Amino acid sequence: MKITDQPGAFLGASVEGFDHTTASDADVDTLKRTVRTKKIAVLKGQDLSPRQFLALGRRLGRPETYYEPMYRHPEVPEVFVSSNVPENGRQIGVPKTGKFWHADYQFMPDPFGITLIHPQVVPEKNRGTYFIDMGRAYARLPADLKEEIGGTFCKHSVRKYFKIRPHDVYRPISEIIDEVETRTPAVRQPTTFIHPFTGETVLYISEGFTVGIEDADGNPLDDELLKRLFDATGQLDETFEHDNIHLQGFGKGDLLVWDNRSLIHRARHTTTPEPTVSYRVTVHDGRKLHDGIRAA
Ligand SMILES: [Fe+2]
Repeated sequence: MKITDQPGAFLGASVEGFDHTTASDADVDTLKRTVRTKKIAVLKGQDLSPRQFLALGRRLGRPETYYEPMYRHPEVPEVFVSSNVPENGRQIGVPKTGKFWHADYQFMPDPFGITLIHPQVVPEKNRGTYFIDMGRAYARLPADLKEEIGGTFCKHSVRKYFKIRPHDVYRPISEIIDEVETRTPAVRQPTTFIHPFTGETVLYISEGFTVGIEDADGNPLDDELLKRLFDATGQLDETFEHDNIHLQGFGKGDLLVWDNRSLIHRARHTTTPEPTVSYRVTVHDGRKLHDGIRAA
């Protein structure tokens, strides 16, 4: 196993020669450490079936199956499918996922620590995913803004980006919204937390899922404060040229493993839709999102 920093980038390392079927526990520990220090590990030369991909994921933690069935792989439900390529005339998974800044499962009470993506059909032109390291972004915030958010909490919800399912057709929108709020009520997390593995302070907010900020007593604070945080961290930059934004490229045979506590990400904007398919596995890594979270 050979690990090399990605040249010219503040994030990411490339990992050659990782085989999940033969890797020792020490190799797996090294991989996990790389994910925590470099935030993204790009495993090279992987060509895994959904079942094999899940087996690789199990080496890193306990898989979480996505709560909405329409995203699940028909044979391996732990695999989440993002696809705009029908198979035998049938839609598998969901197209156009994640085109907004978010951390995976940020709107859920117990988000997992590690996300793995294995691209299957890679677009010709607009390939890659944007990332922001919210530990690094927090460290770079102006001191007065850091002080202003000390002791505050944020609310996270899927409501802005919940995708209508086939069986929602002809249902009143109010009924669907009520269902979303009942099934996945907004969760409250501290605005910043200490990363349980690295000790970094992470600013845990995203433009896609964070819907409010409040003081320690639950009194709502001005949404303007959230906007200032989104702006300062680079999430409102539609040119994607902000210093905090990293574009992670990938090709066929790559498998991305990233730190879902530190990183927020966003699928790359495409003007002309190209065939794109990727598989995702997400795993809990033995610790909660942060140590202030209650065990489920
Ligand atoms: Fe995502």
